[in-house]
Amino acid sequence: MSITLKTAADIEAMRVAGRLAAEVLDMLTPHVKPGVTTEQLDQLAHDHMVNVQGTVPAPLHYAPPGYTPYPKSICTSVNHQVCHGIPNDRALKNGDIVNIDITVITKDGWHGDTSRMFIVGEGSIAARRLCALTYEAMWKGVTMVRPGARLGDIGHAIQRFAEGQGFSIVREFCGHGIGRKFHEEPQVLHYGRPGTLEELVPGMVFTIEPMINAGRREIRELGDGWTIVTRDRSLSAQWEHTVLVTETGYEVLTVSAGSPAVPAFVDGTAAVAAAPVAD
Ligand code: MF3
Ligand code: CO
Ligand code: CO
Repeated sequence: MSITLKTAADIEAMRVAGRLAAEVLDMLTPHVKPGVTTEQLDQLAHDHMVNVQGTVPAPLHYAPPGYTPYPKSICTSVNHQVCHGIPNDRALKNGDIVNIDITVITKDGWHGDTSRMFIVGEGSIAARRLCALTYEAMWKGVTMVRPGARLGDIGHAIQRFAEGQGFSIVREFCGHGIGRKFHEEPQVLHYGRPGTLEELVPGMVFTIEPMINAGRREIRELGDGWTIVTRDRSLSAQWEHTVLVTETGYEVLTVSAGSPAVPAFVDGTAAVAAAPVAD
């Protein structure tokens, strides 16, 4: 087992996979409103992937060792749900926050994995702050990516930023290498020490997907065998991009027309390659 390095052709194929995953989120965006059920969002996403894109939803029937097969095509994690929330028939209501996590498999077998936070209707100041801060935390990690940096640099940047503002980082789940497999080496921790762990080299592709809690970092798994929630029931947020290590830095692969503007601290030239910048 080791980290697979992607060739130029692999990278081109992963750009397509990444864009398609992001476009599922773009398509869902106008539907994330009070009254919609997460099952309806799952159905919309499933049909778009299968019938419009010709992609396969990677979560559907996904069964890593020790897990029962995942029953739906997307993950929807609401409020104190941290990740892997299973879409159901409950309606979203005004003020909810929801993470929608999309992973597609393209016809030629490549994965693209990305998630965004959505605020349903009008969110509280606390909810909006958590979502915004988690987005920035993800980008603090992304902007550490370049050849010669180490995985510990990514984790440290995220941890310092989030904990510095009194928020906590979930430790049991991490980013991951991705390619022909959904979850490959390496593990990308969202906490850590600078200068430690694997050195980044061009051609690596992995996700950065911090889960940040408003309260304590402890989590527990629900009886469905998938849904992870905060133990103290505090709000949790997550954002995810799939990122390529380039010769000079990084390229975010999960970008689309609807990608949110990058934070102001992200270098302008890198940002052009990464995502649309704000008007
Ligand atoms: N998309 C998640 C990730 O970012 C994994 C979801 S696994 C599932 O790694 F089975 F719950 F879909
Ligand atoms: Co992922
Ligand atoms: Co994901």
